[in-house]
Amino acid sequence: MVYARANTPQSYDCPCAGYGAGLPFSSPGVAVPALPASASSHPDLTLPPPARAGEVWQTIDTPALMLDLEAFERNLSAMQRWADAHGVALRPHAKAHKCPEVALRQIALGARGICCQKVSEALPFVQAGIRDIHISNEVVGPAKLALLGRLAREAEISVCVDHPDNFAALGAAMDAAGAELTVLIEVDVGQGRCGASDPDTVLALARAIEAHPRLRFGGLQAYHGSVQHERTPAGRARICASAAATAAGYAELLRGHGIACDRITGAGTGSAEFDAASGVYTELQAGSYAFMDGDYGANEWSDALRFEHSLFLLATVMSTPAPGRVVLDAGLKSTTIECGPPKVWQRAGLTYIATNDEHGVVRVEPDAAPPALGEVVKLVASHVDPTFNLHDALVAVRGGLVEAVWPVAARGLSR
Ligand SMILES: Cc1ncc(COP(=O)(O)O)c(C=O)c1O
Repeated sequence: MVYARANTPQSYDCPCAGYGAGLPFSSPGVAVPALPASASSHPDLTLPPPARAGEVWQTIDTPALMLDLEAFERNLSAMQRWADAHGVALRPHAKAHKCPEVALRQIALGARGICCQKVSEALPFVQAGIRDIHISNEVVGPAKLALLGRLAREAEISVCVDHPDNFAALGAAMDAAGAELTVLIEVDVGQGRCGASDPDTVLALARAIEAHPRLRFGGLQAYHGSVQHERTPAGRARICASAAATAAGYAELLRGHGIACDRITGAGTGSAEFDAASGVYTELQAGSYAFMDGDYGANEWSDALRFEHSLFLLATVMSTPAPGRVVLDAGLKSTTIECGPPKVWQRAGLTYIATNDEHGVVRVEPDAAPPALGEVVKLVASHVDPTFNLHDALVAVRGGLVEAVWPVAARGLSR
């Protein structure tokens, strides 16, 4: 192995998209050996993919995210049919999966485009050829605005704004980039997160956007997040009706001042049923419906629109240390637990009860069949979006056999 001189700033080929290239990685005064020039100097040490096409799912290297393609495709079709039947566009949220292969399939079935939550998140989707992306968020800060300008030169991009200063910064960034941008005003319809909440601000923003030569007024974003996990359909219907009425009020205000407001975008998996039928929303942003997770699984669903679990976190039993307890190789670095621990899928008497960084402890009831050392079990993560962000790859399986391994290309892209 070749070591560089101590205290000499070095650069190395960073495996993550070359971000490290050219950057000093050793701070002055700290003696560290240089990293090798590139990963290719150790060809025997490259990490193989978690699976290869044709293998049975039980041999996938874990922890791994596995997609049941049949359930996934039924979910995609169900939401697309629901949107079509109600005359609204579907623009699925890609923050749920961060995987261009998923987005391309949604678009092939009829989705208008996709949503991203962050500017950097949109990059791999533009690189994959997706040309219509709504950034369902405010974009603040010079680096992000500069990147937004570059993206807007490549694709049809829309963003949200809820403050006049941010509007001015967006305009300046598009002037600097020589790009055009569609801007929607985000309105708060009850969640208490982002969004303008007074009519004067909404009207002033719309007028300012319309007057800017590089900005187009695109309508309203009226997303209500906290309704999504309201457990009963009746409860969700009630809150959705109130959110739709608030959004309709802003749209009427604008139309009353001669400003067209043709696009009202919002809706998640839990509210899509009601938002699509509201007569107010024109576009659905749901994302998790393609996969489902434990938190959405705890909702009650009407017969009109329901989805199946298609995403599973695979984990291997790595220890069977005592009767009534087995330990899996999937912990906090494979699944987030802010919505509760993952559930063991269709194994009666097995409960995931504790998690460490790389361990998941499962209690086995006395009358349950314990999984054997080395056995691979399926878990359902409680919250799909941040769990995807922990994985590089999605293993797509059909009929129990691996069909493909898709990169989770936007993993970690939160800027
Ligand atoms: C602005 C916005 N739109 C859409 C969604 C999609 O929601 P879900 O993945 O629950 O369908 C979210 C999720 O948090 C969101 O923040």
